[in-house]
Amino acid sequence: MAYITSAALEETGYVVLDKYDREMDPREWLDIEYNDWKSSGDTRFAPLASAKGEIECNGFWNHKPPRTDKDGVWIDSQTAKAPDLTRRAQEPGANVGRCRVIELQPNTYADCLYNLHQDDNNRLNPDGTGWVVRGFFNLTDDKDSYFVLRHNRTDPEGEVRIALPAGAQLIVDTQRLWHAATHPGDSARYCLITSWESGPELDAYIEKYNGVNHVESVAVPQDELDAGQAEQSRRLAARAAALAARGQAEKLVMSEA
Ligand SMILES: [Fe+2]
Repeated sequence: MAYITSAALEETGYVVLDKYDREMDPREWLDIEYNDWKSSGDTRFAPLASAKGEIECNGFWNHKPPRTDKDGVWIDSQTAKAPDLTRRAQEPGANVGRCRVIELQPNTYADCLYNLHQDDNNRLNPDGTGWVVRGFFNLTDDKDSYFVLRHNRTDPEGEVRIALPAGAQLIVDTQRLWHAATHPGDSARYCLITSWESGPELDAYIEKYNGVNHVESVAVPQDELDAGQAEQSRRLAARAAALAARGQAEKLVMSEA
């Protein structure tokens, strides 16, 4: 047995869809309820679907009974305020697990590299069913921001940087690729993140919106890339030393964002 996966994501682990071309009402992400949830970077999350329909962001495997990141329960008080976001998350018709809006405060490329992580969306996912991947719909028009994808956390070889203007739509195998966002500027970035089960529904959705599995990376000056890489090395070493002093190993996988 093997998981059902999307052929479109097989080569690179991501696809970029057509840009969402309709205006969104910012109240959909500003008026919903957030809770503090420590993820990669300075973040808050507003769930639209959660394990039990409550406004909390814990992995479904931390609930009783534990389960994988599927069959999220829509939160009526949130979806009533965010009908278009809800409709967009439901449009593929694929099973939805966690669905929430992330609010990310400004950061730097070096911060982003330090924040790179893999998700564990497929914890407890039964073999033979659909692999869980994640949709990222950028909501704010973050013209200078970009999503960073790497195969290896500390190796810049093959790094992909995907632009995040309003309407950018990506689907990423976030358990396979290390990922985080670089978000310069002075205001928060908002993005809808949805866990979807791979299968024919998601494949049809990717095809409908012309998903492409290669994009040109956002251009960043080489000295900035080099400085970010050096800073990531420095911070990771400092963190490892601090953890070693406490007799702990580094936690490599984050469950959120
Ligand atoms: Fe993540």
